[in-house]
Amino acid sequence: KHIQIAIDGPSGAGKSTMAKIVAKKLGIMYLDTGAMYRAVALKAIKSGIDTKDGDALAEMVKDIDLRIVYENGAQKVLLDGEDVTEEIRTPAVTVGSSNVAVNPAVREKMVELQQKIAKENSVVMDGRDIGTHVLPNADVKIFLTASIEERAKRRYEELREKGMLKQTFEELKKEMEYRDINDSTRSHSPLKKADDAILLDTTGFSLEEAAKVVLNIIKS
Ligand code: C5P
Repeated sequence: KHIQIAIDGPSGAGKSTMAKIVAKKLGIMYLDTGAMYRAVALKAIKSGIDTKDGDALAEMVKDIDLRIVYENGAQKVLLDGEDVTEEIRTPAVTVGSSNVAVNPAVREKMVELQQKIAKENSVVMDGRDIGTHVLPNADVKIFLTASIEERAKRRYEELREKGMLKQTFEELKKEMEYRDINDSTRSHSPLKKADDAILLDTTGFSLEEAAKVVLNIIKS
């Protein structure tokens, strides 16, 4: 049987760092589901579609060519055959991804792709609705959170280190608050802790410390 580990939480809570550590330790696949919503937003922007235009988005995702591949263990996102792994991290795509993620047709399509991957592989998946909706029977569910201040700081540092910083700290924090509200108030599978998920507030902890806690939970 395949192993399923769900890691959910708001932006910047450290989900991807955590998921990568856990996947590596267990020797299983890591799937960053946020990257898929980002790719949908990028396609909309490139096609001149408003990221809030529900009908146009629904039509667009019907036959979207979105593939997740792995190169030296790192996830790459292919959109219409093109590697868009870097391009999906810009501020415009980030805000767009939050907008397209409200759309039920977009969500259904992404969930279908995610469940197919989980059917064929053992995975650690990170997102917003993995424990509640995508993998309701996951073996372990973690809900990671931290204060908005700490989350914005972490994301700011991460982008700075990668040389991808394009906003001030305040702008980044505002964008994060905007996404938090979109994610938690949408009608279709909003951001929510699954009843059987373990809540982990990482404010004041390093993610390496938090990862140790998670690995212990998985082992037990
Ligand atoms: O995780 P990341 O910040 O890359 O996700 C980009 C956007 O995709 C989020 O702002 C969120 O609105 C959306 N998302 C989602 N459900 C998921 C993963 C991401 O709605 N499972």
